[in-house]
Amino acid sequence: MALPNKPLGELAAVANPEVVEHDVDVLIVGGGMAACGTAFEIKKWAPADMKIKLVDKAAMERSGAVAQGLSAINTYIGDNPIENYVKMVRNDLMGVVREDLIYDLGRHVDDSVHLFEEWGLPVWKKDANGDNLDGSKPAPKLTEGGKPVRTGKWQIMINGEAYKCIVAEAAKKALGEENIMERVFIVKMILDKNKANQIAGAVGFSTRENKVHVFRCKTALVACGGAVNIFRPRSTGEGKGRAWYPVWNAGSTYTMCAQVGATLTMMENRFTPARFKDGYGPVGAWFLLFKAKVQNGLGEFYANSDAVKDELAKFMPYGQSPVTPTCLRNHLMLNELKAGRGPIYMATDVALNAFLDAKKAAGMNDKDVQKYWKHLESEAWEDFLDMSVGQAGLWAGANIEPEKVGSEIMPTEPYMLGSHSGCCGIWTSGPMESWVPDVQGKPRSHQYKWGYNRMTTVDGLFTAGDGVGASGHKFSSGSHAEGRIVAKQMVKFCRDNASFKPELPKSAQEYADEIYAPVKRYLQHVGATTAADVNPNYCKPAGLMMRLMKATDEYGGGVATYYMTSGKLLNICLDLLRMLREDAELMAAGDLHELMRAWENYHRIWCVETHIRHIEFRKESRYPGFYYRSDYPTCDDANWKVFVNSTFDPATQEWKCEKVDCINIVETTPWL
Ligand code: ADX
Repeated sequence: MALPNKPLGELAAVANPEVVEHDVDVLIVGGGMAACGTAFEIKKWAPADMKIKLVDKAAMERSGAVAQGLSAINTYIGDNPIENYVKMVRNDLMGVVREDLIYDLGRHVDDSVHLFEEWGLPVWKKDANGDNLDGSKPAPKLTEGGKPVRTGKWQIMINGEAYKCIVAEAAKKALGEENIMERVFIVKMILDKNKANQIAGAVGFSTRENKVHVFRCKTALVACGGAVNIFRPRSTGEGKGRAWYPVWNAGSTYTMCAQVGATLTMMENRFTPARFKDGYGPVGAWFLLFKAKVQNGLGEFYANSDAVKDELAKFMPYGQSPVTPTCLRNHLMLNELKAGRGPIYMATDVALNAFLDAKKAAGMNDKDVQKYWKHLESEAWEDFLDMSVGQAGLWAGANIEPEKVGSEIMPTEPYMLGSHSGCCGIWTSGPMESWVPDVQGKPRSHQYKWGYNRMTTVDGLFTAGDGVGASGHKFSSGSHAEGRIVAKQMVKFCRDNASFKPELPKSAQEYADEIYAPVKRYLQHVGATTAADVNPNYCKPAGLMMRLMKATDEYGGGVATYYMTSGKLLNICLDLLRMLREDAELMAAGDLHELMRAWENYHRIWCVETHIRHIEFRKESRYPGFYYRSDYPTCDDANWKVFVNSTFDPATQEWKCEKVDCINIVETTPWL
């Protein structure tokens, strides 16, 4: 149930919160696209008496990565062969991906897009002349043969400011409001007391009431998105809080699954998106819909030269490709910036005028050209207004007329995610089908299938969306579809394990004491000084986060070093993170919001530590433009066209990193 917005100011935390215990069959942790997919789907398969609960740290209507809305759905297969989708993802992610998971997603994703349209999401269509209808005029639905406005081969345009509200409404209706708890932050997952490697529950707290919630469950989904604010953002000071991915994604998915022993994969991967500078506005529509090109400070369109082709050829995992992988597009941009040929512009002026010139050359009269221009201009602004309103504000505030001047673009700080143009995440089972590689005689951390599609290496623990590793380019639609795949599997798991009685190793009160430790520390020591933020006995979450960002930025390949790091620097970073983890035990929280910030920090530190460990283990630079190792500056396909998987053993508290074979399923020819 939604709780009312809080009154003015933060809600003070008390030393002894109420403790509430819940027994359910299925626990869904998260409320974004993936969790909404699960919530929508699950009741179709579950028996009427199966108890299902969804817990979201925010309000589902505007939670997760799609909270602000989107102007495009970036995965809609349509008429494309699914094999080509696999090839595109593999190419963009430099050759090391789980093709089984990607293929499986590709064959299901369109169904979710069709549902979105049925639920009211306006999808842009083409009219009979091939002109864009922009979603405002009546047109047949996709399922009725309507032709979407394709920006690229995979992307379609939408009027998507309310995208998440529409998807959340359907999820809530399907699952029932009474089965949904909002504003509850899950702190950790819990293994069963008696059964090894079996998930049994989760614990968390309300950010609106002084209450700790303890859940026992037979199976759980963790779908809490990726990680933001793990590296120092380019927007500091008054711009802090502006980021490309949602600032509330704190790496909870990776941390909470890793802590109970789930194997992680490709945590070295990151996404360093190139965005419109300062506003972090999206570039996809400009590149694809408006066919804009990047221009350096000398006015050169640097991305098309012969020298560039030679530069790219050094890195491509399967030879030349028709589309430059996202990381290598950044690589070219960084080369320009490092050579002093910045800034880099999106040549919006050149692109828009080319459209107008083409219409004039085709004989369009002045009045119609004017009308066409208004249409084009509104498309350009809507791209920002749908999904990144701050960028529209910045353009308006800076008097930008995109048809007259280009706008600066810039690689941002790095993010960790598995659903966009990145692929870090958790190692999961693929579908139990014959075409999925069958690896015999090895532990799950090397296998491709072990019983339940998208189950992690921990029994009963599932993930989806940003959580599933080595399978990027799902985007919003793919995350939703993956959540739906998981729903069916979780029901199956429950049925197959009907007699399992989850038992937690500690009492509910012990968990409550642990969760509220930062509050108790605050209340005990706050009187020692006159300023609540400065105290010899504790540190506040905000300060700790800045310390984390300083360590990763300077030593882990952040913006400070143009994303360059090395074995030496990474080990310094790991030392700093170890100390940070120690000091994190001294965090104090005076209110419920700050308590969430404290726990988000624990999650961030853990998840970024796995990132640094993986980069250190992989002795090559697999993603030039996202990060570089100065000691291993190129891709080394002979030794490293493999997954790096890591597992934390909760019993011994030890980490293990290993190479895992990457098996191609789809032929390794280019996809165009
Ligand atoms: S968004 O989610 O913030 O809009 P972004 O702007 O990067 O993402 O891109 C949206 C889609 O366009 C993605 O499918 C991405 O792979 C694709 N894309 C972006 N830029 C290019 C480009 N220059 N060439 C090919 N595809 C691109």
